Amino acid sequence: MEDNRPSWSSRLTFILAAVGSAVGLGNIWRFPYIMGQNGGAVFLIVYLALILTICFIPLFAELAMGKITKKECIGAFESVNPKFKFFGFLNPLTGILISSFYFIVGGWIIDYICLSVANTKIADYGNYFIYFTQSPISACVFTLIFLLICVLFAARGIKKGIEFANNILMPLFAVILLGLIIFSLNLPNAHEGLVYMFKPDFSKVNPHMFLAALGQALFTLSIGMGALLTYGSYIKEDKSILKSTYTIIFSDTLFALMAGIMIFPAIFSFGLEPNSGAGLVFITIPQIFAQIPYGNIVSAAFFILLFAAAITSGISIIEVPIASMVERMKMPRIKACTILFIIIALIAIPATLSFGVLENFKICGKTIFDFLDFTTSSILMPLNALILCLVAGWFLKIKGSQFIQNKLIAVIFDFGLKFVIPVVLVALLYIGLK
Ligand code: PHE
Repeated sequence: MEDNRPSWSSRLTFILAAVGSAVGLGNIWRFPYIMGQNGGAVFLIVYLALILTICFIPLFAELAMGKITKKECIGAFESVNPKFKFFGFLNPLTGILISSFYFIVGGWIIDYICLSVANTKIADYGNYFIYFTQSPISACVFTLIFLLICVLFAARGIKKGIEFANNILMPLFAVILLGLIIFSLNLPNAHEGLVYMFKPDFSKVNPHMFLAALGQALFTLSIGMGALLTYGSYIKEDKSILKSTYTIIFSDTLFALMAGIMIFPAIFSFGLEPNSGAGLVFITIPQIFAQIPYGNIVSAAFFILLFAAAITSGISIIEVPIASMVERMKMPRIKACTILFIIIALIAIPATLSFGVLENFKICGKTIFDFLDFTTSSILMPLNALILCLVAGWFLKIKGSQFIQNKLIAVIFDFGLKFVIPVVLVALLYIGLK
């Protein structure tokens, strides 16, 4: 089986797919609103510091573990020690749970693309968003359409499906993003948004900000659910994973900053609030489009941008359980995709309904959507990243010197992987669970 494993066509297609996995709703939907809620520029400084000092280590370890073991997640952990099989199993499980809420937001994006293309005039986006997310049939249908698109790409395999989607959608994403940045920077008073993003107000520093920044960094870099491990396992021998790690981190951070430069100048130019939370992209931004000439075209471009980013990440999330089903259970890929579609739909439909008919159904005091979001981003992803660092550092004995020529960076990597990152992740989990 191992000899028949698929692999990337070239280094570029691997990088595009890994960057496609990292750059997603986390950059364009989550990053601006979390930054808006946590004081703007100071949050950015904390976030950048964490990415550069902490996050590159688990990201590198995930890719390295995939590349060394050449197995999907369960097999990768099992090959280190058969007792670790359960740890590997947590990754596809996390993938299924993440996709169940990630694809709901994907469904909202499709609805907003349809609204923009049909040039539908909405008087109050706040009410519209509540109305749409509460309406049982349309919200579920859009969630399932988004899920279906991801599954169809994944079903075509690594080269014809995943590479194909990334080769088209990532350049489309970059072009639309650049166009929207130029548009946004030319609005009156755009500089106020840039000041908000880049001029720190240190009085806003607080401990919660560090937690928010670390959680955001793990999520946006796709660390802690096996997506990069699985993508890493498709790398052919000759590719340098250190360079790939830097490229993924650099691109993801660049795209997050670009998303901020697109969003904040527009928000300040129209005198709106940057701290409106998860509704920033679905309520605040559409209000801007409603006030400008040809707003529906700009709006369609914006939501197609989000769609492209979300699809490439969505594909990487479902590839984790698909790879496990195909390689371990020897299932044909199409069958694995069909079964996965049904499993995710069965979780995603109640989660979609948790905005409306099931809003009073609570698990641990949270709606199904909030519960899935919380258990994956605040518990399972940091937990998986912690387990991965411990297994890679102490049992697989990945050494920085195997991959990194610079001795100092190799030593920092070894120390970070075995001691610093596990301690930081335990602290994150402790605070998250408190
Ligand atoms: N990194 C993706 C984003 O920013 C989300 C993601 C998480 C993708 C985990 C894969 C694995 O939207």
